Amino acid sequence: MKKNKPQSTQDMLTEEELRMIKKSVDSDREQRRRLAHYDNSDKAKLVRYVKKNRIFAVVCVILIACVIVTLCLCAAFVIKKMANRENKDDFTIILGDDSYTAKYKDIMRDGILYVDMRRIAEYTGLTVTGSATSVKFTYDDDNYLRFENGSDEAVINGNMVELGGTATVTARICEIPYDFLTKAVGDGLKFTLDRTTNTVKIQRRMYATEDDDVFIPKEIHFYSDAFTVLMGITQVDDDYKYEYSIDVSAFLSSIDPDNAEDYLILANKQNPLGADYTPTDLKSLEINPNSSREMNLRSDAATALSAMILAMRADGITDVFVTSAYRSYSYQEKLFEGYIADRMESGMTREEAEAAVLEFSARPGTSEHQTGLCLDFMTTQMSDLDESFEETAAFRWLSANAHKYGFILRYPSDKVSTTGYKYEPWHYRFVGRNAATEIYESGICLEEYLELN
Ligand code: DAL
Ligand code: ZN
Repeated sequence: MKKNKPQSTQDMLTEEELRMIKKSVDSDREQRRRLAHYDNSDKAKLVRYVKKNRIFAVVCVILIACVIVTLCLCAAFVIKKMANRENKDDFTIILGDDSYTAKYKDIMRDGILYVDMRRIAEYTGLTVTGSATSVKFTYDDDNYLRFENGSDEAVINGNMVELGGTATVTARICEIPYDFLTKAVGDGLKFTLDRTTNTVKIQRRMYATEDDDVFIPKEIHFYSDAFTVLMGITQVDDDYKYEYSIDVSAFLSSIDPDNAEDYLILANKQNPLGADYTPTDLKSLEINPNSSREMNLRSDAATALSAMILAMRADGITDVFVTSAYRSYSYQEKLFEGYIADRMESGMTREEAEAAVLEFSARPGTSEHQTGLCLDFMTTQMSDLDESFEETAAFRWLSANAHKYGFILRYPSDKVSTTGYKYEPWHYRFVGRNAATEIYESGICLEEYLELN
């Protein structure tokens, strides 16, 4: 039942009473209207103004609403930006109980966080082998990671995979993407990254032994399963698991020859070959693109070199060529005397000139080039044979792969006092795959290898 409905006839009004009430109400309204008209308060003025300028008022209200909405949107944007702002503080890298600080700009490049694998190897006890620019971290025989300076790829247990960044490998550091490492390591390590504090924590996972109080570190395993494998293993024989870019089966008896010891001849300042030494099995290089001159090497070295040049070509390196290979005693004599004459023309005595030249050129009878087992590479972009070869893709490739074809970098930068010659990034020596692998993996030079063997 409605509230206002009269309950009985006594509650009903007569028509006359209703008319009177209506009149009185109408009169009240009129009074209020008049009063409003003469009311001079600010509120009354505003009401009158708004009533008179309705359209203007509506436009004003809409504009004010728009401004408020825009301000709200801007505030939301700024708040979101502040929330997403990248923390650019330096990083703290915690390795077990030790930690160190790394500058943000040094380890965060193109939005990729890099960690130093050499430090991680120190903490985890991984074995580090290879050269300054190509390094291998081994847990045990089949369980390793390999990185090469400037490369976007890595090798995990013989499988080449995308690194997801670019490796920086020097004698001191090996910076690789943090994300790569977390994907490549099995359960031997625990990784924690906190971007609010810029902290990376890497710790060995532990096993509890039967005696509950004793914990031992879990084994570290590397896996390529989480990656797309770019190049798989070619299982060549039981001893080597090398990935080759070409089918090397036709070259293998030269790359890894039965008479490998014959190729361990030492020719240096202390061990001259003499004027009469000439190898009997010299062979012209069949594959030497970009070169118009004939070059010769001993047969196995020439065949192994053909495989290596073909593999480089398969990997997109087409600008490399051999600029010098076998040199006879008389040719070396001409070269050496030419260098001496140049220096004597600039005012040096014969003695001074010899001392200067002997830093980079062998006296006739002592040059390794006379063995027919070594060669100098250049690329078509180079005008002279110089250290700029180190900057080439060919050099990077050779640093990572030459040993698989039986060649070694003969005059490394860190062995000048042992080899007696300045660093020659272009000079490669054939010793056969076995010795080349041992020399490559132990980071020694030929003199040291022969001393040990
Ligand atoms: N450049 C090397 C050392 C040679 O002359 O045999
Ligand atoms: Zn050379």
